[in-house]
Amino acid sequence: MFQRFRRTRLNGHLRSLVRETSVSVNDFIYPLFVRSGEGIKTEVSSMPGVFQMSIDEVLKECDELKKLGLYAIILFGIPDVKDSIGSDSLCEHGIIAKAIRAIKKAHPEMFVVTDLCFCEYTDHGHCGIIDTKTQSVNNDATLEISAQQAIVHAKAGADMIAPSGMMDGIIQTLRVALDGAGYVNLPIMSYSTKFSSGYYGPFRDVAESAPSFGDRATYQMDPANRREAIAESISDERQGADILMVKPALAYLDIVREIKDNTSLPLAVYNVSGEYAMLKFAGMNNLIDYNRVVMETMISFKRAGADIIISYHAKEVAKLLQK
Ligand code: PBG
Ligand code: ZN
Repeated sequence: MFQRFRRTRLNGHLRSLVRETSVSVNDFIYPLFVRSGEGIKTEVSSMPGVFQMSIDEVLKECDELKKLGLYAIILFGIPDVKDSIGSDSLCEHGIIAKAIRAIKKAHPEMFVVTDLCFCEYTDHGHCGIIDTKTQSVNNDATLEISAQQAIVHAKAGADMIAPSGMMDGIIQTLRVALDGAGYVNLPIMSYSTKFSSGYYGPFRDVAESAPSFGDRATYQMDPANRREAIAESISDERQGADILMVKPALAYLDIVREIKDNTSLPLAVYNVSGEYAMLKFAGMNNLIDYNRVVMETMISFKRAGADIIISYHAKEVAKLLQK
C-alpha cells in the first residue's frame, strides 16, 4: 500500500543501511578518580566497576583503555587534605596536576580532560569559595581561583578543561585567563547545562564531595526549567565554549535535542553516577538484560543529538562493540 518501509523488508544488511544513528568507541570519554598513594584500587560500593585509583594504577588503566580503543578520559582528583578554598587544586604538586603529568608522560596519545571544580577539594564540599555571611558560594571570588586552577591544569599538560561548577561568567573568565597565559588552543568543554540532581548521589561517595551544609541548588539548575537550559547553553557558546554539555543525561534528553537544534557547537552528555548505578544494580539482580539496556541507553543519547558521551559504561560498551 502506501507504506514506504515494511519492517519485514528490513532484513539482513538493509537494516544497517537505513539505521539512523550509531554508537562508536570514538564517542566516549571515560571518567577516572585519582588519589594519592601507590597500588591503590578501591571499588566504590555504590558504583560496582568504578574505582578510586592511585596514579600508578591509573597508568595501568590507560593501557587497558587503549587496548579497547578508548583514548579520552576525564580526571577527578581526591586530595589528601581538604580546606576552605581547595588549595590542593591550585598547586602544581596537587593530586590532579601530578596525575596529568604522569599520564601525559606515559601515555602521550591519551586525550586528558580535567574536571575543573572545587567540591572535591574543599572541606565544606561546595563548588567554590563560601561567603560566610550568606553561607553560599561567592561567584566572583570563585571565578578568580577557577582561573588559577585552569592554569595549573594547562601547565601540567591537560588537553581540555571542563569547568563543572556552574558559576556565572566562568567560560569567559577561563578563556581570557588561558589566552593570557598563552594557551590559546586549549579547548573548554562547559558543563553548560547542569541540573541540581539526585542522580549525582553515588559520585559524591566516590569523590567524597557531598556538601557538609546546604545543597547546590543556588548554582545548579532547577530540573523544571527548559528555557533556562537553552539560555545557559547559548550564553556559554557566546562566552567562547568549544563544547557544551547536558548533565544528567537520561532524564534530560528533551533538553539535549533542543540545545542541539539551537546551537552549533558539539554537544556532550554526562551519563552520571546514579544512572550508572540504576542499571548496574538492576543487572546484577537479573532484573534486566544489562548489555542490551546499556546499548539501548547509549543509542538514545546519540539519537537525542549528543556527539560525545561521558560514561562509566564506556569500557563495557567498547567490549560489546568489539564483539
Ligand atoms: C563536580 C561534579 C559532579 C559530577 C561531575 N562533576 C558532582 C556534583 O555536582 O555534585 C557528577 C558526576 C556523576 O554523578 O557521575 N562538580
Ligand atoms: Zn563541584
